[in-house]
Amino acid sequence: MTGFSPLIAGNWKMFGLRSALREVKTLVRLLKTHKHNCDVVICPPATLLPVLRQVNRGGQVALGGQACHPAKDGAHTGDISAFMLRDAGARYCIVGHSERRQAHGESDAQIRAQAVSALGAGLTAILCIGETDAQNQAGETEAVLSQQIAESCPEREVTGDPAARLAIAYEPIWAIGTGRTPRPEDIAKLHAFVKECLHEKYGEAGARVRVLYGGSVKPENAAQILSLPGVDGALVGGASLKARDFFTIIRASRHGPDGLNR
Ligand code: PGA
Repeated sequence: MTGFSPLIAGNWKMFGLRSALREVKTLVRLLKTHKHNCDVVICPPATLLPVLRQVNRGGQVALGGQACHPAKDGAHTGDISAFMLRDAGARYCIVGHSERRQAHGESDAQIRAQAVSALGAGLTAILCIGETDAQNQAGETEAVLSQQIAESCPEREVTGDPAARLAIAYEPIWAIGTGRTPRPEDIAKLHAFVKECLHEKYGEAGARVRVLYGGSVKPENAAQILSLPGVDGALVGGASLKARDFFTIIRASRHGPDGLNR
């Protein structure tokens, strides 16, 4: 764990058959031959974790799950636990993605339980927060974010050093998969706000938790977004499916040697 290195994570969602290995091979090769200064994670469908682990052996891509059941095991048909993800090669797990909050009705309490389970399995949790278009229009964004942080982030007793075990992904729901992004000054303002909330929750250590931006990050806008103060990386959906696009985003992260971008 490198602490302040920026984190660029790809969320493949429900995309990817074994033919996607070609893309990962290309990415692994590009990362071996070109300098970059961030932690790189791919969260593929769980079915691909073992094969990606093989392809990436000795490489620089860490793997992650996209969600996990809070229990270690049990009678939960169709679910997958954090321990199983870890066993299959994951080192990270996304929790609380808005598509899970909306399509699976996951509550803040359930997301916190998932995060606790992910940490218990030795995974780093990438916990997603974000407002809907209607909440944004109604000026409720900060209230939504502070409630999601207060209620879905695990307590300090569970996280240990939160900066080492937790990253937050601020993803405005209206920006996901739409090609729309907030104005740069709004991203910077909201990242500063998220960091204040994390400081309130975790004290000084909270200020070191990486806050990623997610929602329509593309090769064309990555350099601008990743250079904003308070943006410590990105959670990338569609553009992470193509090795060269994802690599361009990774290379767009030009943080200083200490990883700080502020
Ligand atoms: P997008 O998805 O980059 O395709 O907008 C981001 C996400 O859902 O994490």
